[in-house]
Amino acid sequence: MKFLQSPDGTAALAEMDGYTLSTSTRLADIGQARRRFGSYVAVLVETVMLRRKAAAKLPGTEEWFFTDDALQQSTPRAVATHRAQRLRDRDVHDVTCSIGAELDAAVGTAATVIGSDIDPVRLLMARHNVPGATVLRADALVPCTRDTVVLADPARRSGGRRTHDPAALEPPLPDLIEAYRGRDLAVKCAPGLDFDRLGWAGEVEVVSLDGGVREACLWSPGLSGADVTRRASVLASDGSAWTVTDAEDDEIPERSPGRWIIDPDGAVVRAGLVRHYAARHGLWQLDPRIAYLTGDSVPEGARGFRVLDRVKYSEKSLRQELVRHDCGIAEILVRGVDVDPAVLRPRLKLRGSRSLSVVITRIGRAGVAFVCEPTPVKSPRVSGGRTVRRSASE
Ligand SMILES: C[S@@+](CC[C@H](N)C(=O)[O-])C[C@H]1O[C@@H](n2cnc3c(N)ncnc32)[C@H](O)[C@@H]1O
Repeated sequence: MKFLQSPDGTAALAEMDGYTLSTSTRLADIGQARRRFGSYVAVLVETVMLRRKAAAKLPGTEEWFFTDDALQQSTPRAVATHRAQRLRDRDVHDVTCSIGAELDAAVGTAATVIGSDIDPVRLLMARHNVPGATVLRADALVPCTRDTVVLADPARRSGGRRTHDPAALEPPLPDLIEAYRGRDLAVKCAPGLDFDRLGWAGEVEVVSLDGGVREACLWSPGLSGADVTRRASVLASDGSAWTVTDAEDDEIPERSPGRWIIDPDGAVVRAGLVRHYAARHGLWQLDPRIAYLTGDSVPEGARGFRVLDRVKYSEKSLRQELVRHDCGIAEILVRGVDVDPAVLRPRLKLRGSRSLSVVITRIGRAGVAFVCEPTPVKSPRVSGGRTVRRSASE
């Protein structure tokens, strides 16, 4: 770090950034750079590569230092900024600050910002990366500030399996909650955590970015919205954002399917706010246990499918229907029925010229397939794969 921060190191990093360092040129680039920078070449290459890798997730960090793990664990800028907005004008202490991604966002909104961590290397980096914050070494389980809002982002154990056990985090989530009982606390966790088992008294916010569910954040009662225990926040990299909460009305009619099927954002589904979202937009459910919605229009930014036809689901009936619609490529979405789109697709033997979407689900006990036209791609969440298979409530 000392060399990298020195004027010679800064100049060497700028020069190293001139190298392509692609898979095909890297060996030659490193060989050439070694003649210039000797034993520093490894750290220079690593730093340049990590800075490039960070560009999309953490824009504006061209001069930061990272480790690969710390970059992977860091909160994306759009999500950190969203959280920081809720901490406006408060004194904020990030007790697991790592290399400072959340600190940097908080510096923009909070009155004062303190960061601490137990990892000395990450702390050195955080000090360099976020000069506007006070950074110190401390165990998150031993409170060392008073009257601050405590922000925490416990890590999965290194080398550990993906686990939804809150006690397996570092620091363990139950210990963290106990250490700050009665304080204003915001804890970032995995969205798959079993919140009901945790018995959290405040708000649980599920956050998605560009259509992918990224995290859940536990907000203690003092930081929660009025009457809010669940919130879904739907963010996009272009800066747009909207939220829905369980303080809103969830009365929706029971009606037969409308002209459109709507696949709500994953944050809405994970937060258990499908009915609230439907009520806000005048939609209703295909089935009370299934997260697909239906209606006669599509809310802005949502993924909608215009229903062309509906059949009782069987492979044969669906194939006949798709042939009748001249379908050659089918995007297959499944919820609540045991159908694997990857297995089903080749068996449909589609030869037509149209690209259509098929929504396979159940209404009551009956399996149903809706043959649909997808909405034009309006948001980033529409891009990507053609196969979506989810459990009923997911
Ligand atoms: C997931 S990372 C935090 C990432 C950070 N929020 C960001 O966006 O860059 C978790 C951090 O917790 C730190 N940590 C683990 N146990 C800790 C403890 N008992 N006290 C303080 N920090 C701890 C790790 O060193 C790691 O940097």
